[in-house]
Amino acid sequence: MSLCPIDHTALQNTGCPVSANAAAFDPFEGPYQVDPAASLRWSRDEEPVFFSPETGYWVVTRYEDVKAVFRDNILFSPSIALEKITPVSDEATATLAKYDYAMSRTLVNEDEPAHMPRRRVLMDPFTPKELVHHEPMVRRLTREYVDRFVETGRADLVDEMLWEVPLTVALHFLGVPEEDMDELRKYSIAHTVNTWGRPAPEQQVAVAEAVGKFWQYAGQVLEKMRRDPSGHGWMPFGIRMQQEQPDVVTDSYLHSMMMAGIVAAHETTANASANAFRLLLENRGVWEEICADPSLIPNAVEECLRHSGSVAAWRRLVTADTTIGGIDIPEGSKLLIVTSSANHDERHFDNGDEFDIRRENSSDHLTFGYGSHQCLGKNLARMEMQIFLEEFTKRLPHMELVPNQEFTYLPNTSFRGPDHVLVQWDPAKNPERTDPSILDNRQPVKIGEPSKTNLARTVTVDAITPAADGVVRVTLSDPSGKALPKWTPGSHIDVDLGDLSRQYSLCGDPNDLSTYEIAVLEEPESRGGSRYVHRTLEAGHTLRMRGPRNHFKLDPDAERYVFIAGGIGVTPITAMADHAKAVGRDYEIHYCGRDVATMALLDRLTADHGDRLTVHASAAGNRLDIPALLATPVDGTQIYSCGPERLLSALEEACAHWPEDSLHVEHFTSNLATLDPANEHSFEVELRDSGLTIQVAADQTVLDALRASNIDIQSDCEEGLCGSCEAPVLDGEVDHRDMVLTKAERAQNKSMMTCCSRACGTKVTLAL
Ligand code: HEM
Ligand code: FES
Repeated sequence: MSLCPIDHTALQNTGCPVSANAAAFDPFEGPYQVDPAASLRWSRDEEPVFFSPETGYWVVTRYEDVKAVFRDNILFSPSIALEKITPVSDEATATLAKYDYAMSRTLVNEDEPAHMPRRRVLMDPFTPKELVHHEPMVRRLTREYVDRFVETGRADLVDEMLWEVPLTVALHFLGVPEEDMDELRKYSIAHTVNTWGRPAPEQQVAVAEAVGKFWQYAGQVLEKMRRDPSGHGWMPFGIRMQQEQPDVVTDSYLHSMMMAGIVAAHETTANASANAFRLLLENRGVWEEICADPSLIPNAVEECLRHSGSVAAWRRLVTADTTIGGIDIPEGSKLLIVTSSANHDERHFDNGDEFDIRRENSSDHLTFGYGSHQCLGKNLARMEMQIFLEEFTKRLPHMELVPNQEFTYLPNTSFRGPDHVLVQWDPAKNPERTDPSILDNRQPVKIGEPSKTNLARTVTVDAITPAADGVVRVTLSDPSGKALPKWTPGSHIDVDLGDLSRQYSLCGDPNDLSTYEIAVLEEPESRGGSRYVHRTLEAGHTLRMRGPRNHFKLDPDAERYVFIAGGIGVTPITAMADHAKAVGRDYEIHYCGRDVATMALLDRLTADHGDRLTVHASAAGNRLDIPALLATPVDGTQIYSCGPERLLSALEEACAHWPEDSLHVEHFTSNLATLDPANEHSFEVELRDSGLTIQVAADQTVLDALRASNIDIQSDCEEGLCGSCEAPVLDGEVDHRDMVLTKAERAQNKSMMTCCSRACGTKVTLAL
């Protein structure tokens, strides 16, 4: 206990406060090496911030605490991120000196104010628009490596592919010439052991030898690049930036970055990929699901990064006395922030230990860190992992883990991946033997964070029946008879119809998850979606759908509901009325249409809600008198409407004197995606957590500007309807243009939809 930071003389009879579990914590062996998240469950539950005498570090294990540490890079300095966790012996230090080893700060362990200017200058090659250029190279390498063993029936995925491909991709990304790749490959592992491992004293010298050689070789390659810095890649780019801003991108920095860049890009991705293959093959059902439906791959990658990430823990130095999770932490303390534990924290991830590729918030994981130092290469890593999985699910779907193999890990605190992953398969069953054309099937790579709500599934069309003139009712079910996801009244699904994606509200029974029901009106102006349903779709066909999502939620606390449906807008209203009846709430339904023959679901509404229903058919002359209906505001009443814009704007006008947010509407369409630069102004967006200020041009959305700066943000509709691009607002007035936020929410100014809303003035500040 000699390392205990607490003054024992002052403790008198209370004894050392380091608990037995904390005293036993050893990140180099035992349970942490087997499964870091499971080994720290006790801590997440009982002692989320504890001092570890074994390492001299304070260990932080809960999601919110780990994220809070990442968020504040001044109070929690990253300067120790690459510090050797095991002190270097004198002999090893001498060995390193022999090679003039002078590794200094790189991005990841640089404090402000030096870090952000450098990050900004060097960020461009990581933006999505630049990364797309690497996709053919990653695909080519992946194909070549799989070709080597696809006919053999057995492989060690790590040795035969996952180690080398990410390294080669990293070298390409950095712009290292092919002829130097082999040499650099040799040295890279030594660096991990040197930084995060616990090499025995005799091993330390050998490791130092390799690291020294790595340093020298990196210097030579850099010199060669300097002679002609016109090439592609991050290093030549850095050299060119140095010519423009020599104070920001220094010589010593470039040399260190050359070496650290390889490690940052290589082992992290190699390990993450090996973890992903192990996890997916151990969960055979999930593996088979992504083989059958490769569009699930981007989400599977994200869930693998959450569940079994390749960076298990990261480090920060406390620069002033503070508290974390209610525990006082003195200035100068070192923190081990255990991202692998945070990623399993039930307080943030429901059933955190479960591997669920349809999890809504997988991408909240902290495997890439967070805030101003968040991994710059995250989207290159995601791209590689997606392409690997695509190639294997296509070519070796029948591959399985060799039974009873023992997975071993290089003992260290941070970088985590199995040394070997042995797989086997029967080459006679390789799909490409019977159908070589499968090799041409390609999934689009999803650059950036996959959308929570963008998970596709296949459904079978059970029946298509007439529901009114020009309207059909379509029932859908899971092809294997599994229950469909739960939904609430007001939810819709996105259905792919030919090349189009269309949204339809669910109108069936939310308690019956064996089928979904939608009603589709054939629209003369249809861009093809409704015509396809009416003319081409048949029972027995399959469709791809995403969702359900709900942006038209029923307020459960309202005392009374007024439902107003216009035409096919009756679909969500039907589900809402069913719910109001089921929970015994007072409600009335006004259903407006041209004539009753065209009004879908009328029979059902009449049967189930007859006494509550008023039908307004304009052809019969009984049009709804909206001003009369809403003349007197009624306390506790909430109005819900879905229908054409004409109806919704009339309602908005008629509700002007009602309490704020009494009216809830769902629009069929939106024109928010069109931006008229002549009528817009440019403004600044400050990103507080990332330490960036970005410009949004008059012809650009905030969403586009965020993406161009490598900030991940989800989006689905990109026209202000769905809410997936929401960002938290800290300061600055927002010109809200979406159809998601209520008036009260707009007035609070706590969040904005980045795909359409803008700044009223010259600046907004976001918590991103
Ligand atoms: C930083 C993880 C792949 C380049 C980081 C950090 C982590 C991380 C944990 C520190 C974050 C923080 O302090 O908030 C990973 C994982 C990867 C991966 C798990 C693969 C699955 C890559 C790749 C590249 C890369 C492929 C380069 C092509 C960087 C750089 C930084 C960084 C340059 C420093 C950013 C800064 O401090 O401003 N990464 N990384 N990483 N990573 Fe990655
Ligand atoms: Fe749908 Fe912005 S992406 S509201």
